[in-house]
Amino acid sequence: MTRISVGSEDRVFVLTGAGISAESGLPTFRASDGLWEGHRIEDVCTPEAWQRNPALVWEFYSARRAAGAAAQPNPAHIGLATLESRLGDRFFLCTQNVDDLHERAGSVRLVHMHGELAKARCSWECGKAPVEDCKVYTSLDEVSRCSCGGRLRPHIVFFGEIPLEMGRIKKEIRNATLMVVVGTSGSVYPAANFVHWAREGGARTVYVGPEPPLNASAFTHVVEGKAGEVLPGLFVV
Ligand code: APR
Repeated sequence: MTRISVGSEDRVFVLTGAGISAESGLPTFRASDGLWEGHRIEDVCTPEAWQRNPALVWEFYSARRAAGAAAQPNPAHIGLATLESRLGDRFFLCTQNVDDLHERAGSVRLVHMHGELAKARCSWECGKAPVEDCKVYTSLDEVSRCSCGGRLRPHIVFFGEIPLEMGRIKKEIRNATLMVVVGTSGSVYPAANFVHWAREGGARTVYVGPEPPLNASAFTHVVEGKAGEVLPGLFVV
C-alpha cells in the first residue's frame, strides 16, 4: 500500500473533483451513467443556456440540490478533514465540486472554484454577494429576484465563465510542497493545469483515482484506487 509522508515543513494543497463524491452516490460528469446524460452541457451549464431557458437550468440544479442533500460524506472527505485537523494552516483544499460534502465532513480551509449548489446570486451581476439558497424549485415563478430586479441564478461557474478565487488558489499553489489531486479527469481547465504549476514550484504531486487522469504524466505518483479506500490510510504525518 502506498504511503505519502507529510513532514513538519510540508504545505499541502489538495484539489478534488467529482470522483471524490462518487462513493457518496453522486455521479461523476463524464461517466456513462453521468450527470449530463439526458442533458447536453450547452443546455444547462452555459451563460447562453441561462439566457435561453432559465427554467431548465433551475430544474437541473434543483435536482442536483436534492441529490446533494440526500448524500453523506464518505471516508475520503473525512480523511481530508482529518489531515486538515493535523496540519492546520499548512493545509488548503480547492474543490471543483459544488456539493457541500467537504464542509459536512469538517473541512474549513477550502474554496469552491466552480461555485456552490446551496447558494444563488443575481444574474444581472449587480455586485451583491451570493445568498444562501438550497430550495428545490419546481417552477421559475418560485425563484426570487435580487433587490436590483435581476433574477437569482445558481451560484455555479458555467462553462465559459471564470472560476472563483483564482488569486488565492494560485498563492496557495505557489506555497505548496505537496499537491494531492483526487478524482478528477484532468480535462477541464484551469484546474487541469494546477499540477503543472505545482511542479514548476518544485512540489511533489500525487494523483488518487481508479484510473490515470488525462494529465497523468505530470504527477510524481499516481495511486490507482477509489478515493474512499485510498485516502484514509495514505498520509503519514
Ligand atoms: N474515487 C476517485 N476517483 C474516482 C472515483 C472514486 N471512487 N470514481 C470515479 N473517479 C474519477 C474518474 O476516474 C474520473 O477521472 O473521477 C473522475 C471524474 O471525472 P469527471 O467526471 O470529468 O469530473 P471532474 O474532473 O471533476 O470534472 C471537472 O468539469 O463538468 C465540469 O464543472 C464541472 O467541476 C466539474 C469539472
